[in-house]
Amino acid sequence: ETIHRLDYTPPAWLVPEIRLEFELGTELTKVKSTMKVERNPDGSHDQTMHLCGDNIAVMSLSVDGKPAEGWTMSGANLLLPLPGDAHEVTIETHLHPATNSQLMGLYASNGMLCTQCEAEGFRRITFFPDRPDVLSRYTVHMSGPKDAFPILLSNGDMTASGEGEDGTHWAEWTDPWPKPSYLFALVAGELVARKEVFTTMNGRKVDLAVYVRPGDEERTEHAMRSLVNSMKWDEETFGREYDLDTFNIVAVSDFNMGAMENKGLNIFNTRYILADPDTATDGDFDAVEGVVGHEYFHNWSGNRVTCRDWFQLSLKEGFTVLRDQMFSAAMGSEPVKRIEDVRILRAAQFPEDSGPLAHPIRPDSYQEISNFYTATVYNKGAEVIRMMHTMAGPEAFRKGSDLYFDRHDGEAATCEDFVKAMEDGAGLDLTAFRLWYEQAGTPKVTVHSEFSDGTLTLTVKQKVPATPGQPHKKPMPIPLKIALFDRATGSHSGEHTLMVDKAEQVFTFDGFAEAPVLSLNRGFSAPIQLESEVSDADIKFLAAKDDDAFARYEALQQLLTRELLGAVEHGPDEARRAAIAEALAAVLDDDGIDDLMRGELMMLPTISFLIELSAPADPMAIHASRERLKAYLGQRLHDRLTALHDRASAVAYSLEADARGARKVKTQALILLSAADEAETARRAEAQYRAADNMTDRQGALAVMASLDAPARDDLLADFHGRYEGNALVIDKWFAIQASSLRPDVLDAVEALAKHPDFTMKNPNRVRSLYMTVAGNPIAFHDETGRGYRMIADLVLALDPLNPQTAARFVPWLGRWRKIEPKRAAMMRAELERMAKEPSLSKDVREQVTKSIDAA
Ligand code: ARG
Ligand code: ZN
Repeated sequence: ETIHRLDYTPPAWLVPEIRLEFELGTELTKVKSTMKVERNPDGSHDQTMHLCGDNIAVMSLSVDGKPAEGWTMSGANLLLPLPGDAHEVTIETHLHPATNSQLMGLYASNGMLCTQCEAEGFRRITFFPDRPDVLSRYTVHMSGPKDAFPILLSNGDMTASGEGEDGTHWAEWTDPWPKPSYLFALVAGELVARKEVFTTMNGRKVDLAVYVRPGDEERTEHAMRSLVNSMKWDEETFGREYDLDTFNIVAVSDFNMGAMENKGLNIFNTRYILADPDTATDGDFDAVEGVVGHEYFHNWSGNRVTCRDWFQLSLKEGFTVLRDQMFSAAMGSEPVKRIEDVRILRAAQFPEDSGPLAHPIRPDSYQEISNFYTATVYNKGAEVIRMMHTMAGPEAFRKGSDLYFDRHDGEAATCEDFVKAMEDGAGLDLTAFRLWYEQAGTPKVTVHSEFSDGTLTLTVKQKVPATPGQPHKKPMPIPLKIALFDRATGSHSGEHTLMVDKAEQVFTFDGFAEAPVLSLNRGFSAPIQLESEVSDADIKFLAAKDDDAFARYEALQQLLTRELLGAVEHGPDEARRAAIAEALAAVLDDDGIDDLMRGELMMLPTISFLIELSAPADPMAIHASRERLKAYLGQRLHDRLTALHDRASAVAYSLEADARGARKVKTQALILLSAADEAETARRAEAQYRAADNMTDRQGALAVMASLDAPARDDLLADFHGRYEGNALVIDKWFAIQASSLRPDVLDAVEALAKHPDFTMKNPNRVRSLYMTVAGNPIAFHDETGRGYRMIADLVLALDPLNPQTAARFVPWLGRWRKIEPKRAAMMRAELERMAKEPSLSKDVREQVTKSIDAA
């Protein structure tokens, strides 16, 4: 049941070539696979070829043109004895796309057929050694009714097509680049495309197309622009050029994840393609840009160099997330992007790293690999490579990445290969740094400072907490960026990167007239939890004067965090609250800060991050503390906030940074005002909603309104629904806005919404829009009766038979019970135990549930 990283063995049989023939139909699709198979000279001498299968049956099987003999089934898998060293194996299977509710393999979505094969979906199409270290050249032939499937797409370039009998047609696609089965893709349906030609740095012309359902083509402009920008940026920044004549993107409505980097045929969740000002927020535009970039960048970090086995997932995902973060930073504001990325890391990855599902970025074992597409593998994985970038500097890092791509092109590589290439190419010694791949848990770092006779002494201590299966930890190498500010001049004489690699270490700095102010972990140079003893006064100094925008944000967040958590214990600290109000007033007044950054500085730390810092947490007390501080700030800054709202409301819509910034501060001002002055907030929110000519303003206003008792609330919600009826992505927002309400009746509202005719368990976006929002809404989820916990457990049990992969994603919320006060923790745990009793749980959900209960 459990698969271990160290059990890896090379495949006994390889498949250098495969031809797939599809007779397409929504109810029944027939597949014929013809494989050239060869014994692997580097593999074991197993006479038997192991072919994975999942929910498919052998309709016919032949070897070298004759019916195969001696084959057996081992569970869902096919064991095929082969006499020689090279054979041709032909297998026929039958698929039923219309009833494939798992959305893995070949499935029907909104009238079209599409595939999702990563990680182990290809085995739901045909029997195959479905592991990423078996690379094959694919030829795909497909035929089907022309009216139902006018567009036929697969990987690579279309090499032939024609008309068949009885209104059918066919197409043949050839992908010259050997690839693992998880990168196979096929799409058939009625689709329209936005097309463009991109010329690469070496003059190759590439036909680009973004395919969507008829009627959606107007909403693809931003996706296409993002694709062109990604291609150009990857050439300039990483020297990577595209390698086929065709690059197709298809958007589908039913999708378990965000998107998929299939070679030459990326398949996307519609929410990361479709965007226009009327239906998508500025955040949605950014997400489209980031995900289009991410999937495109996989063409090199993932496809040309792929993974040897799924334990190496961070090899492609961590690196590709870093690449998409760098791309988005280059397209927009670097510091704002860094702040957003750190916020995501803290809200999603830190809780994972301190909970029962904690795992290293390169896990040691798994039961179901789908459960390891996590914030740890993706986002912490990106932070680990970012640290290499910080230690090497941009030029040396580029040498390392060039060497990596060059050395491993066409291979299925390991994380170790990446680290080695960075050592050889960038000139780093990463011997000890490899611990970041081995140890789970967020290091806790404390910095103690002493000053005498002009010398500053920093004592840095680190501790990596125990995580399941890893009770004892070694100290990690941590590149800690710092600056020492002169109190009098408000400046510093340059950044230092301290290499902290022991449990306790001392660093000294000379030549100061008075004790400098410490700015620590600048730019969030390491994914750690820093417990600094810096005084409120020094933090306030940094919040006002730090020249690193991220550090300035951090200082303010630290002051806010101290107050929010301190108030839970012993009520508000007047001096500190006043300091916060003063610092925020300075932020609101400072013309030197652009509005995009101002909007970031106005946000309070998230509840999930605060829970993380205060185990065992009382989520309601934290929420109350947050609302109380909001009310205080809303009052103290009332005139500034209304003036800001007025100023920003006068800015006309555009996608330029200024206008986007104006929209961001507009809604942030309402959020801060809302706890202080409900009536005024409701008035302003309604006005913002009614005047809105774009989704950012409309959704922002409605989300603020959803938490109020205002008379216009229900009218506006009804108006929103009526205006966007039939637009699935916007109706998702309508569900999410209501589920995010901080009103005490939120769970009643969610129960009613689950019965709304627009709700369906079959569409993952719709399920997430209602229930992920509940899980992330502390008022709803942590309702003291336990009703929120029951609701999520009920959802998991109801969704699991349909779509285990998406169902399993809800379990970690309940798995955080150890962080929560005992009364609620017992109820959360009881829900996990209730789920565990269900005999027919999927492998996906069972793994998450049992680990959440048992882990030490
Ligand atoms: N490789 C895809 C991405 O980065 C994710 C696909 C994961 N799919 C899955 N079913 N687990 O972005
Ligand atoms: Zn990815």
